[in-house]
Amino acid sequence: MPLNIVTIVGARPQFIKAAPVSAQLRSRHREYLVHTGQHYDANMSQLFFDELGIPQPDVNLEIGSAAHGEQTAQMLVAIERLLDAQKPDLVLVYGDTNSTLAGALAAAKLNIAVAHVEAGLRSFNRRMPEEINRILTDRIARYLFCPTQTAVDHLHNEGVTAGVYLSGDVMYDAALHFAAVAESGSTILERLRLAERSYLLATCHRPQNTDDVDALRAIVQALIDSGEHVVFPVHPRTRGFMQKSGLMELVRKAEHLRLIDPVGYLDMVQLERHARKIVTDSGGVQKEAYFYKTPCITLREETEWVETVADGWNILVGARQDKILAAIRDFAPQAGQNNHYGDGRASEKIIRYLNEI
Ligand code: UD1
Ligand code: UDP
Repeated sequence: MPLNIVTIVGARPQFIKAAPVSAQLRSRHREYLVHTGQHYDANMSQLFFDELGIPQPDVNLEIGSAAHGEQTAQMLVAIERLLDAQKPDLVLVYGDTNSTLAGALAAAKLNIAVAHVEAGLRSFNRRMPEEINRILTDRIARYLFCPTQTAVDHLHNEGVTAGVYLSGDVMYDAALHFAAVAESGSTILERLRLAERSYLLATCHRPQNTDDVDALRAIVQALIDSGEHVVFPVHPRTRGFMQKSGLMELVRKAEHLRLIDPVGYLDMVQLERHARKIVTDSGGVQKEAYFYKTPCITLREETEWVETVADGWNILVGARQDKILAAIRDFAPQAGQNNHYGDGRASEKIIRYLNEI
């Protein structure tokens, strides 16, 4: 029996996660795709639908930016109304954003089953809004699709065992599939005149790094002091804080630190695959660095993707200027990689599991 599934996405990484799953899902089930509008700039949203061939959303709730409580509450109201009208068999949510929590909570209160893709991740840092969103979503989800064995173990340690399924990582599916597409389709290296392994790629958007001027200054200063050619696609949140705090002045003086607007997924994949090193606080970018075997320097004190660190391809340096600089100079992975993220068919496995419902 085909299921009626409402999928809820809203932020950049969720479009990328939904791309492989949505393609599989529609071969068997009916999907109604809801965009909460959490991300709305063309280069944070529409570009991904166009590039990745994701079906256009059936509805965009246009919630936009606001404080956490307000944003989540507005989503909750709108999603509840929509679910009341759609009466789906299942609500599918991804990752750990406010859109994830709002979708899961609205569905659970209406007694609609929730499937959570990327369940079981933990940073054990409750100051991160994502950690709250994940814990709560996992508590109310009926089907929990875990990207890694570590994620399964976390759920088991919390007493969550029913509905837990090790699917592998859908971002790995996307990374494998789109690497070749990016190689032939992206012209970013030519446009930015970048030679292979001649540059660092940087991204930064976590509140603990962007909303704290000392942290953001330390990161920017380390990138400048490295003397490396750095390509930095700037998240709108970070651009806002750089402008407010006067850090833009510092950046303007450093010609080798190149701030660019957020890029599409294909350009990003291409930048990641050919960078010498990646400096980031993004969850998705840490993993993609690992998938593409580019050394990663993570601007955080902990990570959910512990396998990348255990294998020696990722180093945690926080927002500490000296540590960032030392890692840019010296960090060089020695070890090979173990296969932690599945076989590139996580989305297929998720749909096969849903077919059994
Ligand atoms: C959100 C997620 C985070 C995820 C990230 C992916 C939560 C709590 N956070 O963080 O887990 O890693 O998305 O990128 O859900 N803005 C724009 N244009 C946009 C979107 C945002 O200008 O299209 C600006 C606004 O000033 C907004 C700020 O960025 O206030 C932050 O956006 P928001 O979606 O609240 O959080 P992110 O930092 O993007
Ligand atoms: N990404 C992108 N363009 C950019 C920056 C990131 O396409 O300018 C992609 C990146 O390749 C990864 C995803 O967005 O697939 C990660 O999203 P983000 O860093 O915003 O969020 P996180 O993964 O930390 O939740």
